[in-house]
Amino acid sequence: MSSADALEQLAAQIRSCQKCPLGRLRTHAVPGEGPADAEIMLIGEAPGYHEDKQGRPFVGASGRLLEKLLAQIHFTREDVYITNVVKCRPPANRDPLLVEIEACQPWLRQQIDLIDPLVIVTLGRFSMAQFLPPSARITRVHGQPMMQEDRAITPMFHPAAALRNANWMRDMEADFVRIPELLAKVRALRAAREQEGRGPEQLSLF
Ligand code: URA
Repeated sequence: MSSADALEQLAAQIRSCQKCPLGRLRTHAVPGEGPADAEIMLIGEAPGYHEDKQGRPFVGASGRLLEKLLAQIHFTREDVYITNVVKCRPPANRDPLLVEIEACQPWLRQQIDLIDPLVIVTLGRFSMAQFLPPSARITRVHGQPMMQEDRAITPMFHPAAALRNANWMRDMEADFVRIPELLAKVRALRAAREQEGRGPEQLSLF
């Protein structure tokens, strides 16, 4: 089966998921969207009102900001894979609960395995917490990429936070423009690994 088919099969499972109570409250689950071979994966927190209605990620104001930031680095939203940590909307957009995050974790892990992105951009603290230790503070670590397995994880503010705070907006813009350079570095590292037959554990960027 192609990874696009496997990703679609996974999306169908997510759409009928009842692993946590959010399954009964949603209008639509929001598995995510984008090419199965996307080099960049953006991971947000959870669907909001509009995402729940449409079954698509980041279709409101935060999504418009992401599209603008992507355009500045000559990408469109169709070039990247966009998803969330939690695939169903928490009531009244409250923070997702641990039980919801944990129930959804296998979906996100399978999406990452199938897509195998070179760069993961975490948007906000819930997404960052999937990859960084709980002691990490987004105000300190945003824009600082790290290698995990053979991909770069780069934490950024959530676009909704950037829309509320002009300083964070400036930070987010500055962090975003560094993505192409990061992508080029990871591409080069993977190419070197393939050529030399080295394993991902021997890769180091930073
Ligand atoms: N905020 C998120 O974290 N995800 C969305 O899909 C929309 C808004």
